[in-house]
This record gives sequence, structure tokens and C-alpha cells, in this order.
Amino acid sequence: LVGRDAVSVAEYMQSDDCRKVFVMLGAGVSTSAGIPDFRSPGTGLYHNLAKLNLPYPEAVFEINYFRNNPLPFYTLARELYPGKFRPTPTHTFVKLLADHKLLDTCFTQNIDTLERQANVPGHRIVEAHGSFADQHCIECHRPFDGQRLRAAIEKSQVAHCDKCKGLVKPDIVFFGESLPALFHQTVPKLREADLLIVIGTSLKVNPFAALTGFVPDDCPRVLINMERAGDIGRRADDVVLLGRCDDVVRELGAALGWADELEREWAKTD
Ligand code: OAD
Repeated sequence: LVGRDAVSVAEYMQSDDCRKVFVMLGAGVSTSAGIPDFRSPGTGLYHNLAKLNLPYPEAVFEINYFRNNPLPFYTLARELYPGKFRPTPTHTFVKLLADHKLLDTCFTQNIDTLERQANVPGHRIVEAHGSFADQHCIECHRPFDGQRLRAAIEKSQVAHCDKCKGLVKPDIVFFGESLPALFHQTVPKLREADLLIVIGTSLKVNPFAALTGFVPDDCPRVLINMERAGDIGRRADDVVLLGRCDDVVRELGAALGWADELEREWAKTD
């Protein structure tokens, strides 16, 4: 990179050296859609779970805690259920990367499915922490009807498997569960990355956070976030663009000549 700024990143993205762009997303890309992130002081979900009487905030997403007390998760799931939120300009920016044949893979930790709703091609998305799209019994793994689970969550009623009476939950990955096979299958592709763009994540949860270390040493890494995260900034071609991600991707989009396209495509998500 010529410099450690958005214009230099855009210049590199328009060169022949940059063909495969990988993106890593976290909860920060959806906060402007009205979905809280987890760890931001004051506004993050983990700071606002007092009403659920949890022993500690992360328990709401722990499989062993859920087995004994599923109600806190069901209560939270009602607030987080997809369908009522609109993708943000940042989600649309990822779609533009695909439209411009630059996007190889978008790894996301988010379960809100806003990448799909922004029309990022499905085969380019890896939902590393699963999503609300499917649901299973946690004991016998029998699938459960989505409409029924949704109705149960709306009423804060715990759903049970028709066969073994085990607890049912959406296929979002809890602490203590494995990440989807697709995640593990896709990780090696990072060795071919020409650019990594990390947006809206505190990079505190592994194995996802460790992905930043899988790209080649000379691959530029860009962090777009409200705060510094992980070790991005340590390598020669690391770029840290601090601020609200929607503002920063608009700046980057403008440097790429995509400003109008970004607004036009985002308007379609309304
Ligand atoms: P965090 O809440 O840990 O981090 C969100 C990051 O986004 C923070 O660094 C914020 O400063 C930043 N941020 C918030 N709003 C922003 C904005 N508008 N523009 C730019 N940055 C913004 O969320 P994640 O890193 O996604 O896992 O959390 C990772 C995992 O922890 C989640 O997937 C979830 C959680 O426990 C499971 O539940 C398994």
C-alpha cells in the first residue's frame, strides 16, 4: 500500500494485484440497523441482560446453561429474531464487492441474516455462528418446524422436540458447540487472500478472531471499527480506519468511484 488510509486501500483494490477480497463481519455492522452489539459499554447486549437473572452475561449463549434454563435465551431470541431489521450501507458495501467480482468470501459472526437480505450472494457467505434459518432438537438433532419455533419464541414458550421432548433451539452456535463444517472448509482459502477487510467486531471470540492470522504476511488487512481490535495495525500493510462503519465504507466507496452505486443499491433494501 502507498499509505495507510482509505484512498490507498481503494487504489490497491483497483489494481490487478487485488483479486480476492475476504471480509470478516461482527455485530458492529448491524448496530445502525437497530440491533445492539454484545460488548459496547452501555448499549451492548451483555450489559443489558440484568432482567434475565443470568449468573454472567455469556451464559445466555452457553449450551450447558441453556439445557438447564432455556428461558433467558428464548426471551432474548424474541428481540433478535430476523425479519424486522433492514441491512445497513455496510452490508450493501459487501454486496458491491461481489458485484465488482472482488469478493471471495464474507465470513460473518452475525446471526441476523442481513448479509443475505442485502443480496450478498449466498455462496459467498459463511455464517460462522450459524443463523435462525434452521432449528433442531439439541438432544436427538431432529429438525423442528420454523414457524412453530417462531410462534413459541414470540410467546416466550420453550419448544420441545416431538420425538424425544428435548429442547429445541435455532441453529445458532452457542459457546460449547462446534462451528459449522462450511466454516472449517473455507478457512484454508484465506491463504489466497489479496485483501482482508474486518468490520464491526471486537475480535474477542475464537476461533473466528484467529482468521485474521491466516492471510499471507504480505496481504493488506483493513480494520473498520469504532475501536482498535485484535492485532490489526502490527503488520506493514495493516490499515486501521476508526469510526462508524457506515461512514467509513461510504468514504472507501467514494474513493472507489462507487458512491452513487452504494446509495442506489442500499435504497433497494428499504
Ligand atoms: P462485539 O460486541 O464484541 O464487538 C462489536 C464491535 O463493533 C466493537 O468493537 C464496537 O466498538 C464495534 N462497533 C459497534 N458499532 C459500530 C459501528 N456502527 N461502526 C463500527 N464499529 C462498531 O461483537 P462481535 O465481535 O460480533 O457469539 O462478538 C463476537 C461474538 O461474541 C458474537 O458472534 C457472539 C458473541 O458472544 C456467540 O454468541 C457465539
